[in-house]
Amino acid sequence: MSSTIKREIQRRRTFGIISHPDAGKTTLTEKLLLFGGAIQMAGAVKSRKTDNHAVSDWMSIEQERGISVTSSVMKFNYRDCEINLLDTPGHKDFSEDTYRVLTAVDSALMVIDSAKGVETQTMKLMEVCRMRNTPIITFINKLDREGLDPLDILAEIEDKLQIECTPLSWPIGMGKNFKGVYNIHQRQLHLFTPSQATSLQDGLLVKDINDPVLEELLGSQADTLREDLELLEGAANPFEHEEYMKASQTPVFFGSAVNNFGVKEMLDAFIELAPPPGPRPTTDRFVLPDEESFSGFTFKIQANMNPAHRDRIAFFRICSGKFTRGMKIAHHRLGKEVTLSNATIFMAQDRSNVEEAYPGDIIGIHNHGTIKIGDTFTEKEPLKFTGIPNFAPEHFRRILLKNPLKAKQLNKGLEQMAEEGAVQLFKPLMDSNYILGAVGVLQFDVIMARLKAEYGVDATTEPVEYATARWIYYNDTSKLDEFKNKNQANIAVDAEGHLTFLASNDWWLERTMENFPEISFQKTREYN
Ligand code: G4P
Repeated sequence: MSSTIKREIQRRRTFGIISHPDAGKTTLTEKLLLFGGAIQMAGAVKSRKTDNHAVSDWMSIEQERGISVTSSVMKFNYRDCEINLLDTPGHKDFSEDTYRVLTAVDSALMVIDSAKGVETQTMKLMEVCRMRNTPIITFINKLDREGLDPLDILAEIEDKLQIECTPLSWPIGMGKNFKGVYNIHQRQLHLFTPSQATSLQDGLLVKDINDPVLEELLGSQADTLREDLELLEGAANPFEHEEYMKASQTPVFFGSAVNNFGVKEMLDAFIELAPPPGPRPTTDRFVLPDEESFSGFTFKIQANMNPAHRDRIAFFRICSGKFTRGMKIAHHRLGKEVTLSNATIFMAQDRSNVEEAYPGDIIGIHNHGTIKIGDTFTEKEPLKFTGIPNFAPEHFRRILLKNPLKAKQLNKGLEQMAEEGAVQLFKPLMDSNYILGAVGVLQFDVIMARLKAEYGVDATTEPVEYATARWIYYNDTSKLDEFKNKNQANIAVDAEGHLTFLASNDWWLERTMENFPEISFQKTREYN
């Protein structure tokens, strides 16, 4: 492997931001892009929150997004690094999409609102990061407002997220009394000045924390800082890179994204600490990024919402080797060779044809439904990357067609949207109507609106008696027939042909699991 490729791998950082809605993800993203010179002005990054919007608003937001899918991956340079920031939808109802995006990152940045502490969505996203031990850096935001005691926030993170905190910076006051942060690692004091600008003054080096200059700068808060630091020295664990890499420790920074304060320090630490692309598991072996041969997988499909062009973009993470435009690769699920001539690379505000790309980079591949989530492409070796999950849905609806003549279009629409991962689709053994499964209820509304807009299908949904789903796996087929016979009304086949058990409540599920110990009931399923 050439030294150029090794160097390119070393300077890449591919990450996503995890946070509860409103913690400041969009604001922070914008500041990061400003530092990277990828955008010139504040206000260029639009929040994709949908909390206060009707579905129609959401649709138009998505439509905008369809035309400029660039916001899904933002690539920028900072110092000597090439950074791929993968966007994750903010709304909890679309968290499945977020989960899959997290399979394509090498590390994550967790944003916490200092007034709210650890919130529900953060906990869910953290669970997903845990599945792959994704290293996490924490940014505690909104210090310009009154918030919780910083020590209490750290204790809450440790308790609720089960990860050890090591503060690398420490805040001095908060809200009206917010004076700045002290960088423990570099012994530098950064005084707070509300600002939208990116040119920041350097921190003041304070070699000795007992230096009386602190009194001049901080007044009575100087003593509080000394006390806090002494307390931390005794109580907090020293930062260890190995522990961060194993996701058992998270370095913590404090700041205010909207004031662009503490962001640059965090970004500087990020590029030093966060890992470049590493080995990736396949069903047979680990693939190393510096292997000669090209490989990668698809983690997201985005339908181009322009009805005139039914094409879709597959987001593809490169895991090894070098991509060059026009290269021929094997699409193993289809057993076909394909030429990648029209791949797109994502810049923050632009997308352009990609000539070459390296491990850690995300490329967009246009297709008409041939590529599915989880598909592996390699130069030759028949590999299958693992760890791209489907999550058992928690909400279900039966879909009813208003005009029976449109059955074909309905099936096509549902199948395509299931392939995109926009919804899960189940065909019950005993019923001819499809059941839709979703992790968040808003998904149903979007599916119905899209069926009408993109496939010309008028359909409605009705509630069903199911409340939970599990995928069925078995080694021993002898019990399978008995299981099927006894549970006919609760068995369906999903869009990829897997048997699925749909239970009306947890109690029923547990009872069935006890009755059939030979059968394994899985909450997640890997893509085929
Ligand atoms: P999200 O993507 O995580 O959902 O959050 P977003 O960045 O949209 O931020 C949510 C709200 O928090 C926004 O206010 C934003 O301005 C504010 N915010 C972000 N960082 C800080 C900070 O450091 N300090 C303070 N005080 N506020 C911060 P909004 O009123 O909802 O929107 P806007 O009208 O200000 O855009």
